[in-house]
Amino acid sequence: MDSFNRWIWSMAAVFVVLVATTGAEVIDLRWVVASDYTLWTSSLAQRVITINDMFPGPLINATTNDVVKVNVFNKLDEPVLFTWNGIQQRLNSWQDGVSGTNCAIQPGTNWTYAFVVKDQIGSFSYFPSINYQKLTGGFGPIRVNNRIVINVPFPKPEAEFDLLIGDWFFSDYKVVRPGLGVSVDVPDMILMNGKAPYGYSKSISHESFNVTKGKTYRFRVSNVGTTLSFNFRIQKHKMVLVETEGSYTNQIMLDSLDVHVGQSYSVLVTADQDDSDYYIAATPKLLNTTDDSPLVAKGVLHYANSGSSVGVSPPSGPDPWDIEFSVNQARSIKWNLTAGAARPNPQGTFNVSNVTLSETIILHGSEANISGLYRYAVNNVSYLAPDTPLKLADYFVNGSGVYQLGDFPIQSVKETASFGVSVVGATHKGWHEIVFQNDLLSMDSWHLDGYGFYVVGFGDGEWTIGSRSTYNLYDPVVRSTVQVYPKGWTAVYVFLDNPGMWNLRSQHLKNWYLGEELYVRVHDDDPNPAKENAPPENLLLCGMFGEPMAPSSAPEPQSGA
Ligand SMILES: *[C@@H]1O[C@H](CO)[C@@H](O)[C@H](O)[C@H]1NC(C)=O
Ligand SMILES: *[C@@H]1O[C@H](CO)[C@@H](O)[C@H](O)[C@H]1NC(C)=O
Ligand SMILES: *[C@@H]1O[C@H](CO)[C@@H](O)[C@H](O)[C@H]1NC(C)=O
Ligand SMILES: *[C@@H]1O[C@H](CO)[C@@H](O)[C@H](O)[C@H]1NC(C)=O
Ligand SMILES: *[C@@H]1O[C@H](CO)[C@@H](O)[C@H](O)[C@H]1NC(C)=O
Ligand SMILES: *[C@@H]1O[C@H](CO)[C@@H](O)[C@H](O)[C@H]1NC(C)=O
Ligand SMILES: *[C@@H]1O[C@H](CO)[C@@H](O)[C@H](O)[C@H]1NC(C)=O
Ligand SMILES: *[C@@H]1O[C@H](CO)[C@@H](O)[C@H](O)[C@H]1NC(C)=O
Ligand SMILES: *[C@@H]1O[C@H](CO)[C@@H](O)[C@H](O)[C@H]1NC(C)=O
Ligand SMILES: *[C@@H]1O[C@H](CO)[C@@H](O)[C@H](O)[C@H]1NC(C)=O
Repeated sequence: MDSFNRWIWSMAAVFVVLVATTGAEVIDLRWVVASDYTLWTSSLAQRVITINDMFPGPLINATTNDVVKVNVFNKLDEPVLFTWNGIQQRLNSWQDGVSGTNCAIQPGTNWTYAFVVKDQIGSFSYFPSINYQKLTGGFGPIRVNNRIVINVPFPKPEAEFDLLIGDWFFSDYKVVRPGLGVSVDVPDMILMNGKAPYGYSKSISHESFNVTKGKTYRFRVSNVGTTLSFNFRIQKHKMVLVETEGSYTNQIMLDSLDVHVGQSYSVLVTADQDDSDYYIAATPKLLNTTDDSPLVAKGVLHYANSGSSVGVSPPSGPDPWDIEFSVNQARSIKWNLTAGAARPNPQGTFNVSNVTLSETIILHGSEANISGLYRYAVNNVSYLAPDTPLKLADYFVNGSGVYQLGDFPIQSVKETASFGVSVVGATHKGWHEIVFQNDLLSMDSWHLDGYGFYVVGFGDGEWTIGSRSTYNLYDPVVRSTVQVYPKGWTAVYVFLDNPGMWNLRSQHLKNWYLGEELYVRVHDDDPNPAKENAPPENLLLCGMFGEPMAPSSAPEPQSGA
């Protein structure tokens, strides 16, 4: 407990030095997280998680290297944590907002996240990370804009629109949570920016965007759902793909785009059709639907001089069961090697053809039956969150009594399914190859906090060493969430240059909640404190380090914003 005591005594002396970065700003946000009713029709209402009375939550609009402070007031009746999906939290896993890095913010209290969006650009989202709350809202968009001095690789669009699309259940998270089981959960609806599809209700409005003929717009599309991948398209309009989760991509022209759970993309759309109204649609993958199903998200692209409303049918898209279409599209999404990036890769180049791999990690995501309990597992280990966040245990007591490095099998599947506190110790500054193997019949998607994946390959069946010959090592796109097709594999490279305790998880909420996750501990023996941030001044303690803070009498904010 030595370092813990030292830390307690030094708290009074702690001060934060923000490295002055030219032009960087401090974005100070105050969020009141609560739950409120939203109407789907004049008679169908449901409680959702709101932030400052908004559902979805407000945009975080930052620029590379800005400091973002979010003072979260928890007015829910249970603990909450927010995670910043794709924001890398350089040297700062203290702000990551998952159960392994932070004690939860208790009801009736507030806590301030403070982080720098260091060397990043792009489109991301945030959402609640514990207690299955994401099922019922609390999500919102994040933009990280280029600094003025860094060129954006396309002309400035007329306007930018955040478009959060996700599947939705009419059941409350608290009702669903205890009964999660083997049954297949088919969502009830797909929402666009928190709104039901066009035509679902006569009295409640759908999502709509106004455009002017001849102008080009940037849509930042995120899948904030829990279960379904979707195909996104705009009637009669082509899209130019330009960015995904912080990488400028090769600018390919698309009729439609598959977006998997937890992913974000930017597309440019030019209003080059007759003045009219057009459907913006998202249809689920691996599911049969009809045009009028609420599982087809429908919004409207409204031209300024349009005199007509949309027709009966949304535009048709690819066969939802055509995996080959989806895989081919995924393979065609590459990094634009000539577009400026906020930060080149550590070799100073963007290709990974000559990197030396220090380790290969093979992760099987599957269902498991542990003493009659239905769970999800990675290599047959179902993650069980300890009371003490791993990051606190790591910092104060070197993990002792909370997790044990070396327990988790990184290349094999345990013969018997079990619960475990899975933490993989990984070489700092090593290149790692991670193979995600999907043993399920459904789509999966994987996300690593703290990093971007270099997405080098997709394939069918079991990955083998021979699969490497199919990799794209020349211009793999770099992103933080990658899909894994049913009974298939996805391979990524990752360069572990960001010390910390990082969550590696399925973005599918049920899989995640029931154990399909682990942590990667990237440790640097060098005690130089400049390497990894010290714990923040407002660090919350819980588990073996103390009780969670009792509800405090923090002054109540007057309003949102
Ligand atoms: C976001 O921030 C940028 C840079 O400060 C600004 O130009 C833009 O208008 C902001 N957008 C929104 C929607 O607030
Ligand atoms: C809670 O909010 C108050 C005022 O709004 C602020 O001064 C305080 O730092 C916040 N507490 C934490 C732990 O962030
Ligand atoms: C979009 O256009 C419609 C009518 O053309 C108008 O009623 C509405 O206010 C406009 N919305 C915005 C956000 O400009
Ligand atoms: C890459 O970005 C540059 C601008 O930096 C652009 O001119 C070029 O067309 C892009 N290349 C591809 C293949 O999209
Ligand atoms: C989906 O529809 C197709 C064609 O209409 C049909 O062949 C297939 O059996 C359906 N699949 C399921 C799972 O219902
Ligand atoms: C990839 O990068 C290496 C240096 O790491 C360079 O030698 C090689 O030419 C690059 N390959 C291509 C195809 O650009
Ligand atoms: C990269 O690897 C290729 C083949 O593996 C090799 O021929 C080439 O010399 C390497 N380039 C560099 C810059 O190391
Ligand atoms: C799960 O395992 C229990 C025994 O521990 C068994 O009784 C039960 O049938 C199993 N359930 C499934 C769905 O395989
Ligand atoms: C911390 O634990 C690791 C193994 O988990 C061990 O290798 C290391 O020596 C320990 N460090 C200290 C300072 O005890
Ligand atoms: C995972 O564990 C279960 C028993 O708990 C076992 O039946 C199954 O074969 C294991 N999976 C693999 C791939 O070994």
